[in-house]
Amino acid sequence: MKVSFPVAAAGVVAATLAVGWVVGGRLRPPAEPAPAPLSYRGPMVYQTYCASCHGPDGRGDGAAAAELRPPPRDFAARPWRTEPTPDAIRRVTVEGIPGTGMASFRTLPAADIDAVVAHVHRLATAGPVTTKSPSADEKALADAGFVSLLGTAPPPLALTDAAGRSVRLKDHAGKLVLIHFWGTGCTHCIKEVPALTALERRHAGRLAVLHVCTDEDDPAAAQTVLDRVAPGTTAFVEETGLGAARYEVQSLPTVWLVAPDGTAVGRAAGARDWAADPQAKLVERFLPK
Ligand code: HEC
Repeated sequence: MKVSFPVAAAGVVAATLAVGWVVGGRLRPPAEPAPAPLSYRGPMVYQTYCASCHGPDGRGDGAAAAELRPPPRDFAARPWRTEPTPDAIRRVTVEGIPGTGMASFRTLPAADIDAVVAHVHRLATAGPVTTKSPSADEKALADAGFVSLLGTAPPPLALTDAAGRSVRLKDHAGKLVLIHFWGTGCTHCIKEVPALTALERRHAGRLAVLHVCTDEDDPAAAQTVLDRVAPGTTAFVEETGLGAARYEVQSLPTVWLVAPDGTAVGRAAGARDWAADPQAKLVERFLPK
């Protein structure tokens, strides 16, 4: 039989008190009550905020799970996107995972976050672990330093260039789309533009690279910057001003790949060598046949 932690803890406390009474007929100082609040708070916060998706025991089978792509993590299954460590669980709980149903819980009180992180860590590591090997697509993404967003829908994107043309993702249906979020004040973003233009030319008609400037409202000003490094490459700004937020751009550059069928593929932050093998292979893998 499994004895739940609060019951076991209460038993230990009661036993300690009883021994105290008997030994020497004197009451010992009461045991430190430290872990008691955490032991029920974790499961309680978990049941309130997490179980609807992750399921009562963390097996990824909550009531809302069926509608989610990717599905909520089964905490006992490996691999994780990150690692089942308390630090990583805390980061995901606070920040969420952009492009998935996993929202940010940063508004929870700090003590609730501590408690739920400890509980999820227990669910993830206490029992037997099942391992599912990543698919070839997931492996290609991981090799290139991308987070998999396979099967999710990209957020809306409304772009305008200096000539006043507006572009939507659906205008590039049938091509692999690489969305490059950059800024005029981000030198390493600007430095990778020529390599991205070369990549787009190499896969002409099958790859579209959209350079979305995040720190300039005027597409002409953004265009001036790109003209200096990569003449002929179009700069865009997002019409609604919400693009960077919707695409969860937390640092520059951030890149998204959107498959020819319009579904998201993956996301990566940081400048990279687009001629290097894992990047080139990833792009080739998702080009239309
Ligand atoms: C609306 C559904 C939903 C709710 C509610 C939810 N999650 Fe998630 N969670 C997800 C989805 C979807 C994923 C992503 C699975 C993937 O990336 O493949 C996820 C992934 C995770 C991961 C795994 C990260 C990794 O590296 O793989 C952790 C940890 C996690 N959630 C913790 C929590 C905690 C803690 C709560 C409650 C405070 C919570 N989740 C509430 C849907 C949800």
